[in-house]
Amino acid sequence: MNITVQQGEIQKRKEEAVVVNLFEGVRPGGATKAVDDALGGAISEAIDCGDFTGKKGKTLLLYSNGRLAARRVLLTGLGKQDEFDLEMARQAAGAAARTLQGLKVSTAATILHGTGAGGLEIEEAAQAVAEASTLACYRFDNYRSRVKQSDGLRKLTIVEFDSRRITAARRGARNGSAIAAGVCTARDLANHPGSVATPSFVARTARRVARAQGMSCRVLDEPTMKKLGMGAILAVSRGSSEPARFVVLEHNKKAGEKPLVFVGKGITFDSGGLSIKPGSGMEEMKFDMCGAAAVVGAMQAVAALKLNRHVVGLLALSENMLGASAYKPGDVLTALNGKTIEIRNTDAEGRLVLADALSYAARFKPAGAVDLATLTGACVVALGNQCSGMMGNDEALAEKVRAAGEATGERVWPLPLWPEYREQINSDIADMKNTGGRAAGSITAAALLAEFAEPYPWVHLDIAGTAWSGGPGKSYVPKGGVGVGVRLLTQLARDWKSR
Ligand code: BES
Ligand code: MN
Ligand code: ZN
Repeated sequence: MNITVQQGEIQKRKEEAVVVNLFEGVRPGGATKAVDDALGGAISEAIDCGDFTGKKGKTLLLYSNGRLAARRVLLTGLGKQDEFDLEMARQAAGAAARTLQGLKVSTAATILHGTGAGGLEIEEAAQAVAEASTLACYRFDNYRSRVKQSDGLRKLTIVEFDSRRITAARRGARNGSAIAAGVCTARDLANHPGSVATPSFVARTARRVARAQGMSCRVLDEPTMKKLGMGAILAVSRGSSEPARFVVLEHNKKAGEKPLVFVGKGITFDSGGLSIKPGSGMEEMKFDMCGAAAVVGAMQAVAALKLNRHVVGLLALSENMLGASAYKPGDVLTALNGKTIEIRNTDAEGRLVLADALSYAARFKPAGAVDLATLTGACVVALGNQCSGMMGNDEALAEKVRAAGEATGERVWPLPLWPEYREQINSDIADMKNTGGRAAGSITAAALLAEFAEPYPWVHLDIAGTAWSGGPGKSYVPKGGVGVGVRLLTQLARDWKSR
């Protein structure tokens, strides 16, 4: 979607539709009032009839009948003024963009949401509109035999009356578009079938993104991983005919600056291995690479924003299959840091590939590392789809991640990682075992990760409940891959103070 900012008056725009907004229980003001006046009070009438109250997520379509150059006016609800925040602005912009796309409108103009009474800064409000509009109109049509190229909102113009605010609005819109592009990269990767988005496909995509953004990218193949001693990811990969890949993306390498490191679980299909999963719902396990997809998307955004920080992205890419050479329950693996793991269940494979990836991260001496993984069904049981589970070894980093989640609407919630939980993964024959029983399944998974995420500050995000969407959710999140984590990680990197 092409998003630009222009100085002007919304009621004079000639696009196919103009978007204005309304707080719940408030009379139209500002740009919305200007449009209402031009419409001879049609907005006020809709409010008086009770047909539109400004509730969040609601929209109302009006026709201008020649009273405006634009034929359609779309009113989007901002909810209650005292509850308004950036997320509401995204929801309102997303609802409007999606409605317009449904009407097959291809060009529209919109005002910013909540910069007056809502109290938002111009730049953040413009970022929210650009981000949410792009994300709401996202579609994945690669596998449809007939796609109409014409339908879809192609061009959105943000119209701002105050000329002193244009520079900030342009900056916000540009950043929002760049971040949304990163999210769309992650969504595309997630939505491709498992047999397309294989480890080498994801690695090639990462390389293409790196080239386009001027980032460095190293792809390790299996012989190289073997030489290094990545015994855990190689064990997971053994049952598959698709070779594993380990990808190292690096933005803005600076001598002496400890980097921020992002680590993604990239199981491109999780059949469960010999501890095979039930058939029903197994198709969703193409999404088991959403952690890695988020890291690719976030690295793309971080590079596009030209952040003056050293950021590293690591992808642990493998299938989990049950071919003749598959790893078996009872096997003992040695991970990259030399620690050994007894396999009790081959379906607890995510923690294994991350064991090698987190060990590898140590060589960068991270100022902070964040891993994202669709790690446990238990996390979905605990937290549902409203937030990701957060565990780690560093309170200060966890607070930064929490704040980035709050700012972006990609919320996280802490679970405890007390040493007592570690005992659940004690093994009789190795340093640890890869499952800890039914109780506290998300925590015992993180307890295993903690054995490899040292000696550096680390936070683990279990995105099993947030990585893909099965139905109605936020206006700017369609069904399928969400791209969750891209905006959070990008925000974390933007807010990061180097030393
Ligand atoms: N990828 C799954 C976790 C998962 C399940 C994510 C459902 C999203 C939805 C992971 O590899 C897995 O299979 N975990 C097992 C661990 C168990 C065997 C200890 C699980 O959660 O059942
Ligand atoms: Mn599994
Ligand atoms: Zn998995």
